Amino acid sequence: MADRGSDLNERLKALGENAFARLNQLLSSVSPPPHLSAIALSVGEPQDQPPPLLAQALAAHAELWNRYPPIKGTSEFRTAAVAWLNRRFGIARGVLDPERHVLPLSGTKEGLYLATEMIVPQQKAGERPVVLIPSPFYQVYRGAAIMSGAELVSVPATNETGFLPDFAALSADVLRRTVLAFLCNPANPQGAIGDAAYLAAAIALARRHDFVLIVDECYSEIWDEAPPPGALGVAAGSGSLDRVLVFHSLSKRSNAAGLRAGFVAGDAHLISAFLSFRSYGGPQVPLPVQAAAAALLADEAHVDQNRARYRARIDTAERVLAGRFGFYRPQGGFFLWLDVGDGEAATTRLWRDAGVRVVPGRYLALDESDGSNPGAAYIRLALVHDDAVIDEASQRILRVL
Ligand SMILES: Cc1ncc(COP(=O)(O)O)c(C=O)c1O
Repeated sequence: MADRGSDLNERLKALGENAFARLNQLLSSVSPPPHLSAIALSVGEPQDQPPPLLAQALAAHAELWNRYPPIKGTSEFRTAAVAWLNRRFGIARGVLDPERHVLPLSGTKEGLYLATEMIVPQQKAGERPVVLIPSPFYQVYRGAAIMSGAELVSVPATNETGFLPDFAALSADVLRRTVLAFLCNPANPQGAIGDAAYLAAAIALARRHDFVLIVDECYSEIWDEAPPPGALGVAAGSGSLDRVLVFHSLSKRSNAAGLRAGFVAGDAHLISAFLSFRSYGGPQVPLPVQAAAAALLADEAHVDQNRARYRARIDTAERVLAGRFGFYRPQGGFFLWLDVGDGEAATTRLWRDAGVRVVPGRYLALDESDGSNPGAAYIRLALVHDDAVIDEASQRILRVL
């Protein structure tokens, strides 16, 4: 694998095509049945609308579009983010300081990418640095790690590991060289939730081996039976936020993917460094957008409704698919992760015979050195449409697979 000093072309080669480009390629010569309407369950884009208060807040702050927004964000936004973290994760007032522990992001995608660029050094104790990513994973972890020049080590998150990565099982050599580990909680695509003990162990491991733990909590508000714990709440319980960064987004919580609003919070030293780093290359978040994001964070009613809608969709899919393809209810998030034996073949068949577009799990995970891929047997379905469409898609899947 290319190192940081290597040619851009080598890193781009390692990057390859992303999952959606590969999906388009796979299906480029396959047509869905002409008599069926196509159903796209491939993209995790909420199809519901954000609450009206988003547009109201934007309109109420329309006089601010002429202003360059500060990269640090407004005090109002940072205070709203901290107040929400405190409420949601039971963090005592005063532990998180809006001045030191939080920064706005233009959606978490750029933040996850840029944080990796900042965190990964040329070397760790004279050796090649390692970035750990769960496999399967959200695409940006992999892309960011490759472009940083680090060695990418995938940590399988399979049925056998409770669909969570077992970082502690890694070799001493890998842990010694690790500079950054990604954790997605709840996990996209598997829907597993690491509990407080799991998070505490991951945080302790990061501190013991001197690496940063990024916990991507973008799906934290979409849960089935119990709200997921947050890594900052767990870290605060340990008396320190050292080495921990959490990422939160309005995209799924508030169906506001187009707003491009989220934030990062945690370790004050890392946040301060990220502020400096971002002052050169990070996108600012427009002031009206920060105002709208703060208003959304202050409201839980629309989030409760959203969660109930996703739960109903899972109920609908469960009625049709229970007992098939290893169906289980995701503890969090809005994806189904179905074991269909051969995910690529099933994806092609579903598009050709059912007009249902899904993603092969293989494209969301890494090929291991022995040729295996922990996602190969799976397909991912995003339950972003209303009940009737989810019911129709589930029936078609049952019929065709
Ligand atoms: C796991 C995960 N993290 C982060 C993101 C990025 O979301 P956004 O940039 O909209 O905040 C996504 C989007 O799909 C995601 O699935």
